[in-house]
Amino acid sequence: MQINKDNFTSAKYDVFSLFNDHWGLATAGTPDDYNTMTIGWGTMGTIWGPPKGGKQIIEVFLRENRCTTDVLLRNDYFTVCFFPEEKRKDLGILGSKSGWDVPNKIELTSLTPKPLGNAVGFEEATLTFVCKKIYAHKMLHEEVPEDVRNTMYANGNPIHYVFMGEIVDVFGSIDD
Ligand SMILES: Cc1cc2nc3c(=O)[nH]c(=O)nc-3n(C[C@H](O)[C@H](O)[C@H](O)COP(=O)(O)O)c2cc1C
Repeated sequence: MQINKDNFTSAKYDVFSLFNDHWGLATAGTPDDYNTMTIGWGTMGTIWGPPKGGKQIIEVFLRENRCTTDVLLRNDYFTVCFFPEEKRKDLGILGSKSGWDVPNKIELTSLTPKPLGNAVGFEEATLTFVCKKIYAHKMLHEEVPEDVRNTMYANGNPIHYVFMGEIVDVFGSIDD
């Protein structure tokens, strides 16, 4: 099924598989100043409206120390892109190299960035969501479940931000 801005709410997404199994890229900023990173966590859903009148959103969860977090805190748009299986190696690179150390890390991959309005996507993506940041929140240590606090955030490991993005454009396709 071809997906676009008008029909994306009626498509059937395998959300858990999309994030957890396939992984995606969260890309923040503008064509002149962007950074991207691999994500395995994410949600899709609806908020802030009456039935059928809410905002359609994607949430991503980015650790405070990520270069992408820094860029997204300064910018209004981000994209969430998914790729064919043959690009997994590239997602591995973008999920292990940081823009803090390697500002042009995209050049280590076979991916081709492209402007999507004032946001950035990739030629090779099979599915792209353009999102307007409508809420950003730094998780509170004391509100995180104790078992998670003692593992994921132990030894000063930085906390995550929640970034909520209203879906403003969609390109690509998913299997029917
Ligand atoms: C499969 C995979 C999934 C990941 N998921 C997340 C995630 O959801 N949130 C996060 O903060 N980091 C995640 N990471 C780690 C970042 O992608 C990684 O630290 C990256 O180098 C950050 O890049 P940046 O500093 O240029 O933003 C993941 C890494 C991999 C390999």
